Amino acid sequence: MITTSYIGKGFKKLIAGLVEICDPKTIVELGTQQGASAILMAKAMGEGHLYTYDLFEKRYPKPPYAPTRADFIMAQKNIAANKLQKKITIRKKDAFWAYKDFKKVDILHIDLCNYNENVRLVLSKWYTKVNKLILLEGGIINKWQREKRFKPFDRVLNMPFIKNNYEKIVIKKDNNYALTILIRK
Ligand SMILES: C[S@@+](CC[C@H](N)C(=O)[O-])C[C@H]1O[C@@H](n2cnc3c(N)ncnc32)[C@H](O)[C@@H]1O
Repeated sequence: MITTSYIGKGFKKLIAGLVEICDPKTIVELGTQQGASAILMAKAMGEGHLYTYDLFEKRYPKPPYAPTRADFIMAQKNIAANKLQKKITIRKKDAFWAYKDFKKVDILHIDLCNYNENVRLVLSKWYTKVNKLILLEGGIINKWQREKRFKPFDRVLNMPFIKNNYEKIVIKKDNNYALTILIRK
């Protein structure tokens, strides 16, 4: 069983549906872990390519430095098991620099342990480069985040550079899981 941020069927169908509707030529994902969400999006993609970034280290590089389940070999195996090697490129690299590799993308998926500073930094580099959608894991404050004094990213989305350029929808599954969708105006 591959671990993922998106537990249960609902999110998978939602994300796959969003990808199908947008018909992206390029998707960039920040946060691969074991490849589950990359595989999900790549399967829903027609022609096109998905690039996914992860440091594949044992702990997150920023506070709260929690352990990760990132696993490069496992991600490669999972992608191969789904015959998606030609459609997905894994880059073992700091995701905060990924913006330098692209002029424009259709979909950006941000799943880096999305606390405020990370999201602000990533969005400030990407907001002009995304043609269609930005998907952000999360959008609610759950028990784990409260315990870790995790700073949520909702304030970033109210900043003018995002508000002026994107519509926002937060899909809340329960008290633990949510997906935030930013739609390019
Ligand atoms: C929640 S997991 C991603 C889950 C995956 N998207 C899924 O649902 O299948 C977050 C990942 O972000 C990675 N990560 C965190 N900070 C990073 C950074 N600065 N550069 C690259 N990867 C990073 C971690 O190694 C971890 O694997």
